Amino acid sequence: MQRSRNGRTGRSRPSHAERATRARQRAFAIAALREGDDLGELRELLRTAGVATVGQAVQHRERPHPNSYLGPGKLEEVKAHVATTDANLVACDDELSPRQERNLEAALGVPVIDRTAIILDIFAGHANSAEGKLQVELAQLEYNLARMRGLWTHLERLGASASSPGIGTRGPGETQIETDRRLARDRISALRRRLDEVKGSRATMRAERERAHLPKLALAGYTNAGKSTLLNRLTDAEVGVRDRLFHTLDPATRVLRLNGRPYLLTDTVGFIQKLPHQLVDAFSATLEETVDADLILHVVDASTHEEETGEMLQAVDDVLAGIGAEETPRLLILNKADAIDDERREELRFAHPDGVAVSALTGEGIEELGERIERAFRATLRGVDLLVPYAEGARLAELHEIAGDLERSDTPDGVRVHARLPAAVAQRYERFAVNGSAAPA
Ligand code: GTP
Repeated sequence: MQRSRNGRTGRSRPSHAERATRARQRAFAIAALREGDDLGELRELLRTAGVATVGQAVQHRERPHPNSYLGPGKLEEVKAHVATTDANLVACDDELSPRQERNLEAALGVPVIDRTAIILDIFAGHANSAEGKLQVELAQLEYNLARMRGLWTHLERLGASASSPGIGTRGPGETQIETDRRLARDRISALRRRLDEVKGSRATMRAERERAHLPKLALAGYTNAGKSTLLNRLTDAEVGVRDRLFHTLDPATRVLRLNGRPYLLTDTVGFIQKLPHQLVDAFSATLEETVDADLILHVVDASTHEEETGEMLQAVDDVLAGIGAEETPRLLILNKADAIDDERREELRFAHPDGVAVSALTGEGIEELGERIERAFRATLRGVDLLVPYAEGARLAELHEIAGDLERSDTPDGVRVHARLPAAVAQRYERFAVNGSAAPA
């Protein structure tokens, strides 16, 4: 898919008719939980996938029923609800085993979709880069392969009881599934190879960026925290923003300028709790950008209750620790300040004294955020005094690019410049240094 200059994909938005068809999917949500009955996140995921939720049922149990996810009594209840709410789909808040999925469908009489399949569907609709697409296809194939295996054993048992022995025992269903599995495996190997190639070229691109030695910032945060909106606010980037989960799937890097000085700012995929394990792998690419960052901007929706804010912060911290980014410096951004009353502001100041309250929507607090980002990097800059000959005008332009505002004066021998530069960049200008000023200032 072609990307246009502003970073949006060339894909047209779903037509009115398409949207109407999708909205006709009416899901009844089910979950087996130890306690509580909050299926808000599942509903959000369904909404993002274009499915309406028409009701929900929760069964409290230590663990899901191994054969049918919910117990037999609860299943009867759900079947009645499905009929009265006119649902044409049942959505489950966990990943189901192939057996659970089959038994649920048999008991409820409507298609059953699990959490992983919903997330895969959302990812498939949002992956834009070559790498993102490959990763989603790989995750989908792996997910389906596990299900084919289940189906295959099921049919194998049917085959074993068939009356005609010998050649006839291999039923058409079984051979077809074997073929499908082989094709799926071949495709998986091909995808893995292709991904390695793409990853290789991405590493090259990253190495090139690194050569520029610009400070790298990564936006991380729970899904719907407002990362894309903040990226737009900070960089005037035209990244499409919709009130949808997982709007951001591909590494999207922009240049952010603070007092003329450039920083590379990368948006990352929104984190969620209970991210299916196949998808953590599938999206390691976006998370890699986080590991590489000099500073992680952790954005949280602070307009929720403190308990929920805390849970979202924890979920992100856990993932960051899991990918080896726990040591990377962080700046906590308490977003959606426009939707916060005075009492909650007070509570936030107390609970997160280091956080910066901003509104990506109205622009409140953005200036302070810029200052905090600059402050985080200022200590790493080195002051240099340079004499750049007039013949090296291109160098001067480059210095402007990297250092923003320069103190400069023209002399007969060239331009005298005082600049504060990232240490690695300062080294590149050593040959212009006056009086050994390339040493730390
Ligand atoms: P994912 O792509 O799912 O990870 O989401 P995200 O973190 O990129 O969130 P996004 O920027 O798409 O914003 C999610 C929703 O929150 C949108 O409806 C935004 O309009 C809304 N939003 C973002 N920032 C603010 C804010 O400062 N105030 C308010 N009131 N709403 C905001």
